[in-house]
Amino acid sequence: MNALIVKRFYMNNWFFVRWVLGLAAFMMLLADASGAAANAWAPLAKDDLHDPKGPGITLLQEPSEGLGTLPRDKVGNMVNWVQAVSKGVISPLRVQNPSMGNLPPMQEPEIMMDKKGSMNMVLFPHKVHTMWLECSNCHPAIFETKVGASNIMMEKILNGEQCGLCHGAVAFPPTDCNRCHSVPHGSQNAKPAGKAARP
Ligand code: HEC
Ligand code: HEC
Ligand code: HEC
Repeated sequence: MNALIVKRFYMNNWFFVRWVLGLAAFMMLLADASGAAANAWAPLAKDDLHDPKGPGITLLQEPSEGLGTLPRDKVGNMVNWVQAVSKGVISPLRVQNPSMGNLPPMQEPEIMMDKKGSMNMVLFPHKVHTMWLECSNCHPAIFETKVGASNIMMEKILNGEQCGLCHGAVAFPPTDCNRCHSVPHGSQNAKPAGKAARP
């Protein structure tokens, strides 16, 4: 078909052509979505990080092999790490041995951050963090050990500071708003900042 015939065909059948094109685009979208669900992790050779021709590529474990057995998430690195621990699929050293490294026992409070605004309040769970991290990963360089003293702001988080040093890098990303902003204002769970200590 030459260009003129194609054009005429399109003009005469524009509704049909657009319908077919639309359907094709939709099918491609579906195929894409199911492909993504089947393999959330790019193979090493295609992740744009590893050299597909390098000798190391055959020595490394494929991410889907290592991570595929863990509870799934829809964001970040597609693993819900908190569930991985609570369901006992993995057991970080600190959970196995709470006195490791002479750290204080994990009795730090859950901290409710209650800046007034339209967003839900932020419940900061110390324990979820001290399962993996040492106090010195956060105190005193990133956060004061005094509730409200660190002037935590969303803009800084999105800039990769404060919570954003890890969230978006090694932990779930800042786009997952309600995982941090988890407690509606005025809900029964709302407790004053710093007073919501766990037993
Ligand atoms: C990793 C945790 C985390 C995530 C994810 C997160 N936030 Fe925040 N956000 C915070 C913290 C902590 C504060 C400070 C809360 C306070 O002091 O009361 C905050 C504060 C805010 C504020 C108050 C004003 C300000 O600038 O501090 C707004 C609005 C806000 N976040 C919107 C959002 C939106 C929208 C998203 C999703 C796109 C989001 N947040 C995701 C932790 C998070
Ligand atoms: C992932 C970061 C992180 C880790 C790791 C961490 N903290 Fe915190 N901690 C915070 C944040 C955030 C606050 C609140 C700071 C603010 O509101 O300005 C806080 C506040 C505190 C407070 C004040 C609580 C209150 O009610 O006044 C104490 C005490 C504290 N942390 C002790 C510890 C100890 C002990 C450890 C180690 C076992 C630890 N933290 C590990 C982030 C962390
Ligand atoms: C030093 C690294 C680090 C910093 C700083 C940090 N986090 Fe985290 N956070 C983690 C890791 C690691 C996890 C567990 C992995 C995951 O859930 O992706 C986690 C998990 C969480 C969870 C658990 C979500 C769930 O599924 O139960 C919340 C909520 C959270 N962080 C909020 C915050 C807030 C709010 C701040 C800032 C005040 C913050 N974090 C600062 C590393 C950090």
